[in-house]
Amino acid sequence: MNNNKSKTWDNLAKAYVGESCARNRYDMLAKLAKSEGYTDMSDMIKLVATNEFNHARMIFSFLDALEPNEIKNIDICTGYPFKQKLQSLEENLKLSASDEEIESTKVYPEFAKVARAEGFEDIAKFFENLINVETCHKMLFTQLYTQLKNGTLYKKTTATKWKCKSCGHEQTLKEAWDKCPLCQAPQGFVMIKIEDNA
Ligand SMILES: [Fe+2]
Ligand SMILES: [Fe+2]
Repeated sequence: MNNNKSKTWDNLAKAYVGESCARNRYDMLAKLAKSEGYTDMSDMIKLVATNEFNHARMIFSFLDALEPNEIKNIDICTGYPFKQKLQSLEENLKLSASDEEIESTKVYPEFAKVARAEGFEDIAKFFENLINVETCHKMLFTQLYTQLKNGTLYKKTTATKWKCKSCGHEQTLKEAWDKCPLCQAPQGFVMIKIEDNA
């Protein structure tokens, strides 16, 4: 089988576009979060966008390795989420969690299975590693969505150690300060608590 006639080739092309789109969506989402004052949330989302860029970069390397000749065009017909920019921050976070879930529970497990069946063991393992990352992304977006919706980003039921990412000030309180007592940075600079098990 020619490498570029394999299903794995098509799947890599789809994954490359999917990751590239996700990167841009998350960069836009990070800007939205920042514009609403959620500076730490914005930085967290920017980091996810960087992860997606690096996923796209690695996938591009696989495509490049499979096809030694110049790639003139890649035909891709698939569905990617598009309208998130028109929604609220809360809705965007929810949709992002859902996209990550689809990627990690349906799309990449299938791509890994196909790659293994076609003899591309290294690509199968790559997709399996991606599943772990996208699962973490899903968890992060789920937490951000839930905490924003419930008003618990900066307000907990028990005393919590908060940290200002601007000046490093730390204080243990049930509710984080509106303005940092040390540097006066607004609440959005307080580092958000993400729990692994949610
Ligand atoms: Fe990714
Ligand atoms: Fe992701």
